[in-house]
Amino acid sequence: MSRNILVTSALPYANGDIHIGHLVEYIQTDIWVRFQKLRGNRCLYLCADDAHGTPIMLSAEAQNITPDALIKDVQARHEHDFADFLIEFDNFYTTHSDENRTLSENIYRHLRDNGDIETRTIEQAFDAEKEMFLPDRFVKGECPRCGTADQYGDNCEHCGATYSPADLNNPISVLSGTPPITKDSEHFFFNLAKYQPMLEDWLASGHLQPAVVNKLKEWFATGLNPWDISRDAPYFGFEIPDAPGKYFYVWLDAPIGYMASLKNMCAQRDDIKFDDYWRSDADTELYHFIGKDIIYFHALFWPAILKAAGYRAPTAIFAHGFLTVNGQKMSKSRGTFIKARTYLEHLDPEYLRYYFAAKLNSGIDDLDLNFEDFMQRINADLVGKVVNIASRCAGFITKHFDGKLADSCSEPELLRDLVSAGESIAELYETREYSHAIRDIMALADRTNQYINDKAPWQLIKLEGNEKEVQEICSVGLNCFRLIMLYLKPVLPKTAANSEAFLNIEPMTWAARGELLIDHAIHPFKPLLQRIDQKQVAELSGADVSQQ
Ligand code: MSP
Ligand code: ZN
Repeated sequence: MSRNILVTSALPYANGDIHIGHLVEYIQTDIWVRFQKLRGNRCLYLCADDAHGTPIMLSAEAQNITPDALIKDVQARHEHDFADFLIEFDNFYTTHSDENRTLSENIYRHLRDNGDIETRTIEQAFDAEKEMFLPDRFVKGECPRCGTADQYGDNCEHCGATYSPADLNNPISVLSGTPPITKDSEHFFFNLAKYQPMLEDWLASGHLQPAVVNKLKEWFATGLNPWDISRDAPYFGFEIPDAPGKYFYVWLDAPIGYMASLKNMCAQRDDIKFDDYWRSDADTELYHFIGKDIIYFHALFWPAILKAAGYRAPTAIFAHGFLTVNGQKMSKSRGTFIKARTYLEHLDPEYLRYYFAAKLNSGIDDLDLNFEDFMQRINADLVGKVVNIASRCAGFITKHFDGKLADSCSEPELLRDLVSAGESIAELYETREYSHAIRDIMALADRTNQYINDKAPWQLIKLEGNEKEVQEICSVGLNCFRLIMLYLKPVLPKTAANSEAFLNIEPMTWAARGELLIDHAIHPFKPLLQRIDQKQVAELSGADVSQQ
């Protein structure tokens, strides 16, 4: 019955630090993976740095280091940030690896042998001084529609027009400031249209989000163009076999990096087989968590490439929306472009995990981090409701009963309800309806607090002869607390572990949730989570302005 699942998050570019926008994705995925593991499923969470492409090459050049040195340094920073946010990969690798080179070359040879690759000469902007072809974003000029100056070669930020660099008036190369010339070059194209029928079948599989299905249908309607998979030297990437000076475009080898990360892991563990996850008839599940900006690459190119090369298609793509801060796009000048590391200097990572969980659902709408709301939720929900249950009950148990819980359960109905809620909460995690799950879990915390309020053990203990009842009330409270912490464990792994230590129990699992703590000794309570102070949030949003 246990499932075999492979999960990925998009591979972060190796030319910048992780910021809180990225974290929406890695936290969303990590919660899902932890949930699967708690359910007893075999679930592997793989990722890697996306190390290739022009920006990384130029960034290394600007810092006077080799691209290899740059990507190594960035990978170490990324891994450190992820670990501190309790994002637990089963393997984190890089696309600049031997495994990825071999896989990319083999896949390319497959496509070529199928007749899916066609070469064509195209005209492109070229910087004669730097002696390199210029990606669209490296040409700037005046918008051909509205005339606004200093616009990129692909679209106008002022009027929204989209165009190609050749359409700009008075264009210049961002690299040298000189006007680009146009130059011919031979490129390699993948025949995407050939795979439209296969993509249509995949779309009909019923696994994709409605928003993703709609996008695919729109793209089918406008027609699928051949995809340019090559770039000219100088380029940081893999050279195309039998094509000196031509490189794979970074977006060709990036998703192959998912496979390479698994290859790399298989070399370290003999209980995992590469083919079980990737062969065309694999019966394992494969999911890619991505942001909505990269649906095109994952929902069109990637399944087509996999099919063309004889591999399986993903079971589903899980796309999410973008993070805004205080209602607006993250911005350095407003102090809302917050790096993962900066956040960690001020606040507990579990607060952000909880906040994102409380906001995320299975759709692709954007989600907002509002600092006021953030503080409220942590203080009211986590500290005020959940941790409060444990702190109210544990004192009596430690002080009057030598740390021992009651030897029978006085409130079987309340506890039965909390145990059975585990099924619907599991379904909500499974379908990525985290905000709904959190709402339901907080309702259980409310019910538990209400029960304790009604029984008022602090009154009872003052009167002779009520000891047994007080012990039973607090034991029920702590059993409820245990279940609530289990349900929050995918979101709050550290607090859940601290709760397990406090309750003196083995790591909690979904399957064993019905085993109540009866006649069981717990440890004295220590505060599990601190309230957020207004000052911490103010410092966080102020902090970055000077640092960027
Ligand atoms: N390197 C590519 C992915 C290749 S996958 C084979 C890339 N990298 S990225 O660093 O720009 O983004 C990594 C992930 O973070 C993407 O899924 C992207 O959508 C997500 N996010 C980046 N900024 C984000 C927000 N502000 N909000 C939510 N997700 C964000 O794309
Ligand atoms: Zn314009």
